[in-house]
Amino acid sequence: MTRRYAVVGNPVGHSLSPRIHRMFSEQTGIELEYEAMLAPLDGFVRSVAAFFEAGGSGVNVTLPFKEAAFDWVTSCDEYAGAAAAVNTIVASDRAYRGYNTDGIGLVNDLTVNLGHSLGGKRILILGAGGAVRGILGPLLGASPERIVVANRTRSRAQELIDRLEDPRLRACDAEHLDDGSFDIVINGTSAGLVGAMPKVPERAIAGSLVYDMVYGANAKPFCGWALANGANVAVDGLGMLVEQAAEAFRLFHGVRPDGAAALRRLRDEQA
Ligand code: ATR
Repeated sequence: MTRRYAVVGNPVGHSLSPRIHRMFSEQTGIELEYEAMLAPLDGFVRSVAAFFEAGGSGVNVTLPFKEAAFDWVTSCDEYAGAAAAVNTIVASDRAYRGYNTDGIGLVNDLTVNLGHSLGGKRILILGAGGAVRGILGPLLGASPERIVVANRTRSRAQELIDRLEDPRLRACDAEHLDDGSFDIVINGTSAGLVGAMPKVPERAIAGSLVYDMVYGANAKPFCGWALANGANVAVDGLGMLVEQAAEAFRLFHGVRPDGAAALRRLRDEQA
């Protein structure tokens, strides 16, 4: 019987996950069904439990349910534990294991697709919400020299780094950054979702690779500003989306698909 998967969110109609997982299915010859599943805002557990009850094999979880998914799973991996957020659930024998593949997706996009080693690099992350919580562990695992987490509300950045207790992490207020420039600047705020962008001094992005974790039109305000103000390159987060899906696919099926090929196809279609 063909195995069934879904991405659960609210809203979820815009999600590219069904498309990406079907591309991976074509690439690998692994047959699957993959649907977008809209769960009521107060009905994540009901929806997911019903999906698994009906024989579903795995789900991806998107906004706003990643924390609810963390609370619901039977066990989870290290990254989901550190982020207190789950974006992939794999069912086996009525046990549900949660994973967080967002950070691995970002690191793979930066290192493999964009060819930027993170070893010894100075990284600036803007934002200190759920999205940033999900990426710190894998970024630290790639051996940067330091990561500065700068947020509009400094106390949130401080709380985030206090949880991880890593000497390479520092918190600060985004508008009063005094560190000079960075090799890589990652926008992990949700500002782009409402057409805005976080405030950051121009010197911070001089000559940097600027990366926005959102993609398409939502990444335009920050990427556009960065390119006009001294960044070397500015990229949106489509590659991160594809690579987090590639890692989820590996967890679902035990085979790693070719994220770069799927990303090229999506970019060609958008162009
Ligand atoms: P998510 O799960 O998408 O990270 P979140 O937990 O609500 O969502 O966090 C949103 C992040 O974007 C926060 O770091 C927020 O800054 P504050 O902690 O100061 O609220 C940041 N953010 C949202 N809009 C912003 C804006 N216009 N300028 C700067 N930062 C913004």
